[in-house]
Amino acid sequence: MRDVAVIGVGLTQFGELWDKSFRHLTAEAGANAIIDSGVDGKDIDAMYIGSMSSGRFVGQEHIGALVADASGFSHMHIPSTRVEGACASGGLAVRQGYLSIASGINDVVIVGGVEKMNDVGGTSATETLATAADQEWEAFFGATFPGLYAMIATRHMYEFGTTKEQLAKVAVKNHANGVKNPYAQYRMEITVDKALNASPVAEPLGLLDCSPVTDGGAAVVLCAADKAREFTDKPIVKIIGSGQASDTLSLHGRRSITTLDATVHAAQMAYKQSNKQPADIDFAEVHDCFTIAEICAIEDLGFVKKGDGGRAVDDNISPIHGEKPINTSGGLKSKGHPVGATGVAQIVEVTQQLRGDAGNRQLSDPHVGLSHNVGGSGATCVIHIMEVN
Ligand code: COA
Repeated sequence: MRDVAVIGVGLTQFGELWDKSFRHLTAEAGANAIIDSGVDGKDIDAMYIGSMSSGRFVGQEHIGALVADASGFSHMHIPSTRVEGACASGGLAVRQGYLSIASGINDVVIVGGVEKMNDVGGTSATETLATAADQEWEAFFGATFPGLYAMIATRHMYEFGTTKEQLAKVAVKNHANGVKNPYAQYRMEITVDKALNASPVAEPLGLLDCSPVTDGGAAVVLCAADKAREFTDKPIVKIIGSGQASDTLSLHGRRSITTLDATVHAAQMAYKQSNKQPADIDFAEVHDCFTIAEICAIEDLGFVKKGDGGRAVDDNISPIHGEKPINTSGGLKSKGHPVGATGVAQIVEVTQQLRGDAGNRQLSDPHVGLSHNVGGSGATCVIHIMEVN
């Protein structure tokens, strides 16, 4: 297997983007990543695009070809493939690009992720997202993702004594980070009181426990590490571990609903490949689609013991100046969650932190970062571990 580096990153603004089309978002994120990387269109061997449900959100399928076309590459006939795995679509697209270079098939690959979710109303967006749950056993009975994660939260509270205040503190921390991210959707500080008194969505989760409905795009340029210096003078950030795992589509089939076994298994794969342990990870972007998801993630990734996630929040381990900073970008909670773009945007943040390019949310001298991207309530998980030399 060849070493693979991330040599370019690009984002669009995240938010309610009424004046930008799906096509525009893909082209803008891709152009930003290409400019950042120093590659030229002729250097690109393949494209992979994460998009969860463009057909329902904007009525457009055949996204691989659309993105190549919108990026101005259609005349070059570059192979371009859409990758789908619900909210993990972006992370899976990164893994496909990574594998294609590691295997020696490609040298330079652009990976994009995009979703435009606000063109449909809130009810339709919720129904579309729920297509990633089990239709027969969950969605048919009215379960939505806020509802499913509310069940996880309720059980976590029952088993481990996790509190609503601890959930609220996750949101407060991620909003504090998001204020420092110019691309974030919700750049406002919140307080624990505000989070606790926000409108209820699915008890015990309120509005400020939830990631929002977001339009946005993200892109990265991946390159065989031994060729990276042909294109860039920036610090070389390598993907040193890539793990993917699956689990039951519905919650009720799992041995426990407070552990995402897909996260546990994907993490084991990525830790083994990279020869790293949880303690070696300096910081992580985790899939906080709901505040309880961040608490489960830091447990399932092995950063804290199972059941200690809520107490770790009280102990302040995860702010930017904590011992294990989590979601320095603002996470899905504050930065926003354009579902197909999220996994790619996580790689953007980890790369920027490792290069020292994260502006006023920059960590002090990080070497190893992790991204954790989940599809649905945990039926798919993809994890990348990255290191700067
Ligand atoms: N965080 C902070 N503020 C939010 C917000 C969020 N997640 N979602 C909406 N808001 C704000 C809006 O800006 C708006 O503010 P305003 O009144 O000052 O303009 C207000 O709350 C109401 O917005 P609206 O769009 O009407 O909210 P909604 O009730 O239709 O939707 C949720 C709120 C939480 C239900 C929706 O964002 C949601 O479904 N989130 C989960 C998405 C999801 O499941 N993703 C997949 C995860 S697996």
